[in-house]
Amino acid sequence: MPEQPVGVFGWGGTIPRPIGRAGGKPSGAPPYIRPVSDLFAPLTLAHGPAAPNRVWLAPLTNTQSHPDGTLSDEELHWLALRARGGHGLTMTCAAHVQAGGQGFPGQLGVFSDDHLPGLTRLAAAVKDAGSLASLQLHHAGNRSPRELVGQPVGASDDEQSGARAMTLDEVGQLVEDFASAAHRAERAGFDGVELHGAHGYVLAQFLSPEVNQRTDEYGGSLENRARLLFEVLAAVRARCGADFQVGIRLSPERFGLRLGEIRDVAAQVLLSDDVDYLDMSLWDVAKQPKEEAYQDRPLMDWFTDLDRGTTRLGVAGKLRTGQEAAETLERGADFVMVGRAAILHHDFPDQVRRDGGFVPVPTPVTPDHLTAEGLSPVFVEYMRNWRGFVADAS
Ligand SMILES: Cc1cc2nc3c(=O)[nH]c(=O)nc-3n(C[C@H](O)[C@H](O)[C@H](O)COP(=O)(O)O)c2cc1C
Repeated sequence: MPEQPVGVFGWGGTIPRPIGRAGGKPSGAPPYIRPVSDLFAPLTLAHGPAAPNRVWLAPLTNTQSHPDGTLSDEELHWLALRARGGHGLTMTCAAHVQAGGQGFPGQLGVFSDDHLPGLTRLAAAVKDAGSLASLQLHHAGNRSPRELVGQPVGASDDEQSGARAMTLDEVGQLVEDFASAAHRAERAGFDGVELHGAHGYVLAQFLSPEVNQRTDEYGGSLENRARLLFEVLAAVRARCGADFQVGIRLSPERFGLRLGEIRDVAAQVLLSDDVDYLDMSLWDVAKQPKEEAYQDRPLMDWFTDLDRGTTRLGVAGKLRTGQEAAETLERGADFVMVGRAAILHHDFPDQVRRDGGFVPVPTPVTPDHLTAEGLSPVFVEYMRNWRGFVADAS
């Protein structure tokens, strides 16, 4: 199952939006190219080293790991190439913290010391290229496919997936396993981890008033539903060293989430002093909120106006050009997370640095293009889940 279903958020063979769409000169004049230098200013973080720039690689599931979750040469190659291409921080795909939380075939694992040698090679390759290295920590909860995990477990019993509610002991074990996985990432040499609290996976399942039907201290009020996220954060901080970086990814829509509640959680995360960066997964930084009550402002603006304390705020979603990335910083983000543009071009940041008007190749692209950009055949096949991204064989 892809991170998001086909067609819902796909680029759909998109044509990039025009350069300088906000604030461009009247037609007839040469297009206004906004300066991109701010994208390449270093970004200090509350813990550990600064990021060399503000164009970061979004977490991208690529299904290239070995069946036991150990790193493959293909996954190493794909990510090392992105680090060498100028991303200020290179985030791994979602990596599962428990065998039973696997969400995808070929998913990277971080639940056993057997994963350490591969993770150590990966962190070293990314850091040698001058990029920060971060590992995304994930548990799929009720979104774990049965064929991978047997009986899925989540926040509550769920008829559709057949998942059953975690017991209190299992919730405690989950907190422990997130912390052990973070410590494992630290031992492997990563600068930090990102907690995957987005896209309807386990942490988001607990946050959701629709999915979470628990009647214990993890259900009911928003404070109770957010308890797991903040317990995981505290446990990770307690287990890892003072220089270790911790990010959190949240998404504000779908899976029964309420925008106002996620804004409250984001506000708490930003002021917690424990979090280096909040990464808001918006799927489109230019979109309006789905909830009518919030439609007087773009979705992104509901987060950029929050008090950040020492935490940095980044956003992801349909950032296809250098101009769109630069405009997003102007709109108030501290950094941008780039997904599909960085799949199309391993050196998207370097290209933008050289030419502020850089626009990626139009989609769909051929498998040969993706192979040349460092994707193995299994990853190319996975990208067919994103409608309009990979050309059909003619
Ligand atoms: C192939 C693919 C795999 C993804 N895997 C993950 C993932 O492992 N973890 C995650 O939080 N988001 C994942 N996402 C979402 C991206 O990180 C990103 O937020 C999203 O693609 C929007 O950015 P873009 O429009 O620049 O691609 C994935 C997206 C794609 C296209």
